[in-house]
Amino acid sequence: MDLNDFIKKAVEILPKGAFLTTKDNETVNTMTIGWGSFGFQWGVPVATVMVRESRHSKIAMDKGCDFTLTFPLDDSMKTALGYCGQKSGKDTDKIADCGLKLIPAKEVSTPVIDCKSLVMECKIFASTPMTEELTCKEILDKWYKSGDLHTMYHAKITGFYELS
Ligand SMILES: Cc1cc2nc3c(=O)[nH]c(=O)nc-3n(C[C@H](O)[C@H](O)[C@H](O)COP(=O)(O)O)c2cc1C
Repeated sequence: MDLNDFIKKAVEILPKGAFLTTKDNETVNTMTIGWGSFGFQWGVPVATVMVRESRHSKIAMDKGCDFTLTFPLDDSMKTALGYCGQKSGKDTDKIADCGLKLIPAKEVSTPVIDCKSLVMECKIFASTPMTEELTCKEILDKWYKSGDLHTMYHAKITGFYELS
């Protein structure tokens, strides 16, 4: 599959939930994401994910230089996606709680969740914290009534493949 076809499929899956997996020292955490975009910046293919201030994952994203994305290809991860989208890694080990198996990534230090999925391995190139001043009122009113703005992490897609 070429990258364009891969991204097309990933974008179709994303609204149902994907895993954003991070590693902070040796601790691996994963959270569910539903938003993101994929394109071409700095001469390379780039994935942009959005993580709110309050997320435990943000600590690893700010320290670390890479993450992995897992787009499940069937419903077997539905319960885990719900759990990882509600519970925080600051309170519990979600990987263990959900019985998720990790396998090493090919190009980055953060592992990959082993399930039937599309996988992207990503190396962070830049991060852009949103600010109230530079965000239009319509968006602030709709999505940020209680603050907790997103930071956008722009990462080079260093690898993409399907896991069966
Ligand atoms: C379907 C779905 C999509 C979500 N998308 C995002 C997202 O794109 N960005 C975000 O910051 N939180 C998103 N969340 C919420 C986080 O997954 C949730 O707050 C999680 O508990 C954070 O985990 P952490 O504290 O271990 O980082 C989503 C939750 C669900 C259920």
